[in-house]
Amino acid sequence: MAYRVGIVGGDGIGPDVIAEGLKVIAAAGVELDTVDYDLGGSRYLRDGVVLTEEIVDEWRGLDAIYLGAVGTPDVPPGVIERGMLLRMRFELDLYINQRPFSLPSTHGSDPAHAGDSTGHEFIVIRENTEGTYAGEGGFLRKDTPQEIATQGSVNTRHGVERCIRYAFELAMTRRKHLTMVHKTNVLTFSGDLWDRTFNEVAADYPEVETAYNHVDAACIYFVDSPERYDVIVTDNLFGDILTDLGGAVSGGIGFASSANLHPGRVSMFEPVHGSAPDIAGQGIANPTAAVLSGALMLDHLGESDAADRIRAACADPDSLTGSTMEIGDLIVSRL
Ligand code: IPM
Ligand code: MN
Repeated sequence: MAYRVGIVGGDGIGPDVIAEGLKVIAAAGVELDTVDYDLGGSRYLRDGVVLTEEIVDEWRGLDAIYLGAVGTPDVPPGVIERGMLLRMRFELDLYINQRPFSLPSTHGSDPAHAGDSTGHEFIVIRENTEGTYAGEGGFLRKDTPQEIATQGSVNTRHGVERCIRYAFELAMTRRKHLTMVHKTNVLTFSGDLWDRTFNEVAADYPEVETAYNHVDAACIYFVDSPERYDVIVTDNLFGDILTDLGGAVSGGIGFASSANLHPGRVSMFEPVHGSAPDIAGQGIANPTAAVLSGALMLDHLGESDAADRIRAACADPDSLTGSTMEIGDLIVSRL
């Protein structure tokens, strides 16, 4: 039985890296029945469409969505990001953003070892439907010298708890260690809700060892001693920022994959990187992050054997060099 998968190649390097991901998935022996969606900045510039209700309804009936990247400098910031990507996360209620990272053996400056895998992997669970991303706020007296802009952070007990619970469940399948990252010393309302919820849920998982880091300290630890982490849970904006840092300390953003999940329902899989308009159309983007996001999609579809083989084929990031298509071919040859 072929899985029904929506494809949103998007803008810039998005379509090219997704093409390699689909090539690798087919070579791993998993059959997909794909539906293409022409969405993103270039579509918007052509006919003004960002996303429609009909498309969102169609997506609800799919098994998964595989997305490249969206955004082009020709469209003002936020139009596609909020109108397409965040709308997809919110309307499909993809409340978990799961981002795994594999550490190189040395961090920092020794190029001889950059990219060697020690086998240490840690995973960031980023809350994906709330926080500052919810869009609460607005302007007063816009375009006057007295202008006021506010941007609130929305944190519901329900939203925070289901995210934290997911992270504890994941920790139970791994080293049973979970770190919450927040800024409870300054964000005394949202941080307090996160802190209380974390401690209450922790009581249901007595085997899981817990830790807490302020987000600024976590930035140091990501660079200095990321081995301390196994599973991290954090809010939407902290998770956005930390996972770019996670990419940077684990071989580069070209290897960072992500799953936008609603367990048991249609979910979306995309590389952490953006559309990279500066290198678009040159065939030089590294497709590994998209390929690894495809492996996360296969996990979601229940094809974990194929997913593991794809991850193994991507295990030596240093050797994955060449053009976009050459890297795709190399991964296929290692399956
Ligand atoms: C990400 C991206 C998005 C985000 C942007 C494109 C809206 O940076 O998936 O990390 O901020 O979530
Ligand atoms: Mn980001």
